[in-house]
Amino acid sequence: MIQVLFICLGNICRSPIAEAVFAEMVATAGKSNEITVDSAGTGNYHVGERPHRGTRQVLSAHNIAYDGRARQLSRADLGTFDYLIALDSTNKSDIEQMLKQTGITKSVYRLLDFAPGVSEANVPDPYYTGNFEHVYQLVTAGCHGLLEHILAQK
Ligand code: 4NP
Repeated sequence: MIQVLFICLGNICRSPIAEAVFAEMVATAGKSNEITVDSAGTGNYHVGERPHRGTRQVLSAHNIAYDGRARQLSRADLGTFDYLIALDSTNKSDIEQMLKQTGITKSVYRLLDFAPGVSEANVPDPYYTGNFEHVYQLVTAGCHGLLEHILAQK
């Protein structure tokens, strides 16, 4: 099993969208029995909550199901997951800091590192911008590239 974890700040906007979009792509590719997908937040502000209304609306507009609830990234996650995928550079450096504290050596990627055609490097936080559709488009581009990358590694 290859285990993929998407990580943002609150785990109510960007990383749930990435988790849902990627899980859908993995299922469409017939790889659900080989790749597992989850998401978490570096912060604890929304632990236990359902995703933001904008998250639920954009996923439902694109016919993608999601029933997760927010959780905070744990030290155990850092050892468990094969791919730690940050939604922006701040998330990435926060995760790298946690890795350093736990003594685990592992690469952290940004999702848009896998979308070379996209000019942005960070998925902007719709908690502040309100632009969930833009997040969906960026995340979709990144997830396509990530899935290609993972399948090419196997
Ligand atoms: P996310 O968005 O990291 O994409 O889930 C945020 C959600 C909540 C907060 C910040 C970002 N917050 O500060 O509560």
